Amino acid sequence: MIFLIGYMGSGKSTIAKRLSEVLQCTYIEMDEEIERREGMTIPEVFTNHGETFFRAKESQLLKELEGELIVSTGGGVVLSAENRQALTDHFVIYLEASFKTIQDRLAQSGNRPLWSGDSNEKQKRFNERKPLYEKVAIGRILVDDKDPAMIVEEILLCL
Ligand code: S3P
Repeated sequence: MIFLIGYMGSGKSTIAKRLSEVLQCTYIEMDEEIERREGMTIPEVFTNHGETFFRAKESQLLKELEGELIVSTGGGVVLSAENRQALTDHFVIYLEASFKTIQDRLAQSGNRPLWSGDSNEKQKRFNERKPLYEKVAIGRILVDDKDPAMIVEEILLCL
């Protein structure tokens, strides 16, 4: 399996879809699958059940994935040591965006429960995640100012 990891707004879903077209294999968006299973949106999962519940569903789904898949993960999948360990068995690409890029892209986003707080809190959460992505990834691609086609090309070079 190929996993795309990175912060919210780094382009994991877009790139996973493109990559799956090029490599002719199925892709899965973990958040979409959780939404389907729970019958509600991610913000609703957070509001109704809390983050701990969401993380449990995310970890459970990760364990169940199998086959030749391209997986777009949720940005927080690396928070759990168990998930990080599970990811080491796979080809994991980190789509790295700068805080500025993420901020610009998420400015209009109303559907991310953890894109919250003031700018210091956002920056802090972003900084805390960075080393976790780096720890798990085999390849790292800087995505600022690159279009999806370029990013897909770079991933293909890593394979
Ligand atoms: C999260 C990222 C979201 C989603 C949830 C939590 C996070 O996914 O899983 O809101 O903790 O970074 P995206 O990275 O697809 O936005």
